[in-house]
Amino acid sequence: MISAFNTVGRLVSGFGSLENLGAEIRRLKGTKALVISDPGIKATGLLDPLIRVLDRTKLSYSLFAEVEPDPQIEVALASHAAAQAFGPDLIIGLGGGSSMDIAKVTSVMLTNPGPIDKYFGMELVPEPGLPLILIPTTAGTGSEMTSICVLSDTRNQVKKGIVSEHMFARVALLDPQLTVSLPPRATATTGMDALVHAMESYTGVRATVLTDTLNLQAIRMIAANLRRAYANGDNREARENMLFASCLAGMAFSNTQNGLDHALALAIGGKFHLPHGLLTAFILPWVMEFNLQAVPHKFIQIAQAFGERTDGVPEVEAARLSVKAIKSLLNDLDIFYKLGEYDVPRQEIPALAKAAIGAARLIMNNPRKVTEREIIQLLEANY
Ligand SMILES: [Fe+2]
Repeated sequence: MISAFNTVGRLVSGFGSLENLGAEIRRLKGTKALVISDPGIKATGLLDPLIRVLDRTKLSYSLFAEVEPDPQIEVALASHAAAQAFGPDLIIGLGGGSSMDIAKVTSVMLTNPGPIDKYFGMELVPEPGLPLILIPTTAGTGSEMTSICVLSDTRNQVKKGIVSEHMFARVALLDPQLTVSLPPRATATTGMDALVHAMESYTGVRATVLTDTLNLQAIRMIAANLRRAYANGDNREARENMLFASCLAGMAFSNTQNGLDHALALAIGGKFHLPHGLLTAFILPWVMEFNLQAVPHKFIQIAQAFGERTDGVPEVEAARLSVKAIKSLLNDLDIFYKLGEYDVPRQEIPALAKAAIGAARLIMNNPRKVTEREIIQLLEANY
């Protein structure tokens, strides 16, 4: 298989690394920055240190803090309009996946004529965007490391992706201090999203030696740190390790895409607005059970990363220990893994299966070939 590997050009990391933002902007010869974020980030005061740093740099900047969770296409258009009015030469995205995704798409919309519809899909954006600096405030989406932007098409009740190498950040800035105040529930769900990225990328058909290396390390770090970060958000070491793990997984899955778990998460999330990390988390054990016989050796590695003893256990049984480990993790994080718990009506299952199978970018990377009928069975079995 011929494969290519792309990633972000520069990573700046460590507690307090936000202080380096001014120097990074100057490196990129930025003079006028548009900061893209969301009202939640603004309300919790996480924008304040960024504003302080920008004020010190004496650069001109403007703020668009109106990104909502599961951003709709209209949010991207509003952000683009704000950018056009201000005329920046650099874009900064600060927040979770939603804010960073909107920052990415805004940077390319400024240099590529609309309508935005023609860019949904793989590598359909012709021109590079404005220089982009991404700063995550959750350890989960890995969006700072990917070339993917996911938007909600509310008219058709689906989530759609734009994938373009022109949406890679010029700099990803990882300051774990920004993740310390994240509440336990969001720590758990975003951390699980990072784990699902690593697992879907690791077990997927597009996996390479490079992505395996990143993903296995990410899985090990999450296995060792997610419970700690959930139990005590002030654990700086756990926070830092989770942020790095999320980054490693993002670096990998940007090159492989995800799999059936994300196809289902986007299908369910398009209709029922549950947090993305929660969706990917509760779907995970079902998809693992379905997929494990396609690549049992990889699921054995996952089981071992979670401390399961696989010596002397027959192959498929050893692989199945990974599902046991994930269910134990979900129990500890207080995440239920039955679809019926989440107010999704049973009669919606066929429509959800249809939407999931339509996400070709994701389904094509799934290690086990899957049909619409099998997805229906999977959802029924785990309702
Ligand atoms: Fe995800």
